[in-house]
Amino acid sequence: MSSLRDDLQEVLLTEAQIQQRIDELAAQLQRDYTDKDLTLVPLLTGSVMFVADLLRRVPGPLRLDFLGVSSYHGETRSSGDIHITKALQLNVCDRDVLVVDDILDTGLTLVRVRDLIATLRPRSLKFCVFLEKEIPHHAGFRADYTGFRIPDKFVVGYGLDYQEQYRNLPCVGVLKPEITSRASLDTPRAG
Ligand code: PRP
Repeated sequence: MSSLRDDLQEVLLTEAQIQQRIDELAAQLQRDYTDKDLTLVPLLTGSVMFVADLLRRVPGPLRLDFLGVSSYHGETRSSGDIHITKALQLNVCDRDVLVVDDILDTGLTLVRVRDLIATLRPRSLKFCVFLEKEIPHHAGFRADYTGFRIPDKFVVGYGLDYQEQYRNLPCVGVLKPEITSRASLDTPRAG
């Protein structure tokens, strides 16, 4: 069986670097949310690896509710046309909500999510992203917690996909150009 790793031209973040940074982030969250009423809201689907690793390192009580959001619709940059594909099931009114996502790119997704959750009247609302692209504005959006800042490159792995593949890579990398230039009838998306 071929390995997904062979499709990478460059590894930006190794598994060890990722796990070490998540140790630090989890310790920070544990400090900041002591005595709070934490509800984690990861966004489907890209945040699954990140949130699973974070969760097991935060020993305090918390609730978990996934929000389904889709934004790319076959483009390599967010369309801004953002759909909610799964609503929250828990009541977050008067709760301390922490939204968790894999990547902050244009910022359009998290602006939409911020506006949506704000209408539910949480006690506090903060954002934790695994990756933040080093681009100028992110639609004016700022994350409260960031794992890594990365160059404005198309990345896959650790939850991030290309045509719904590569999410299960334990590292983050850039695909070989021959992979992304291949024509496909599947729906593409960008990391
Ligand atoms: C991706 C990613 C972020 C968002 C970031 O989601 O997971 O949620 O785009 O882009 P933005 O900052 O430009 O808005 P996508 O809609 O591709 O869904 P996925 O998580 O299921 O891959």
